[in-house]
Amino acid sequence: MRDLTDDTITAAVLSTMRDTKDPRLAEILRALVRHVHDFVRETGLTEQEWARGVDHLTRTGQTCTPTRQEFILLSDVLGVTMLVDAIGHRRSAGATQNSVLGPFFRDDRPYLHDGADISRGLSGTLLFFEGRVTDHHGTQVTDAQVDVWHSNADGHYDVDVPDLSEPAMRALLRTDGQGRFRFRSIRPASYPIPDDGPVGEMMRATGRSVMRPAHVHLRIVAPGFQDVTTTLFPSDDPYLDHDPVFGVKQSLVAAYQDHAAGAGPYGTTTDEPYILLRHTFVLEPASPTPGPRPV
Ligand SMILES: [Fe+2]
Repeated sequence: MRDLTDDTITAAVLSTMRDTKDPRLAEILRALVRHVHDFVRETGLTEQEWARGVDHLTRTGQTCTPTRQEFILLSDVLGVTMLVDAIGHRRSAGATQNSVLGPFFRDDRPYLHDGADISRGLSGTLLFFEGRVTDHHGTQVTDAQVDVWHSNADGHYDVDVPDLSEPAMRALLRTDGQGRFRFRSIRPASYPIPDDGPVGEMMRATGRSVMRPAHVHLRIVAPGFQDVTTTLFPSDDPYLDHDPVFGVKQSLVAAYQDHAAGAGPYGTTTDEPYILLRHTFVLEPASPTPGPRPV
């Protein structure tokens, strides 16, 4: 442990961890040290660059508040969040794929009835949503809990809409005896990830778009099945191929069907044009040892 060089310091650091009691922690820390040391060697990192990196991470932490998590955002834009998700939720062909939970899920969402208007009166293009939840054989999954949340026509979630006293554009629904859930709301819009902090600096330095394509978030929980946290994107969104958090999957791109005023879906009528979004969600059976839950 003396006279260490750039060739011997990695082994020396790893040797200090040999008494780690938790074997998984030991595995992760060893890999972390190896990869960080290799990163420094590969890039020939200078002291000034190292200090700049430390400053960036310091400010990333200082930007975090109870309602803003800059470190998760950093993980998102580096693709780490979706990589962890992909490893933890390997889905078989035909099953609905996961996407990022994002920072706007709320536990205090209202439980609303089938067909409810979840927009709470906010203005925007009328959207009808008809969902169905099935297993791999197409058999309906009844009494599944379905969370839905999305942004408004300006790309803001309810928490960022001034003078809104109650949750809006979000609800907890349950599938009926045919596995269906339905609601009406307003069409969501694309929106930028928070770009006034260290992550925004990095996005500008690398010339990347900060715009997420418009989307509707859904989270489906049913006994006997794996939880699904997913997102549906409109097929005509210009940002589909530039999502800064890498959450778009082709199977989650859905056509928003334009309709004229008049007869709406499931027996409704409307005096304004509307968009209809239909999607079937296919759940995987619960695995014997559940994977990590989204946080
Ligand atoms: Fe979102």
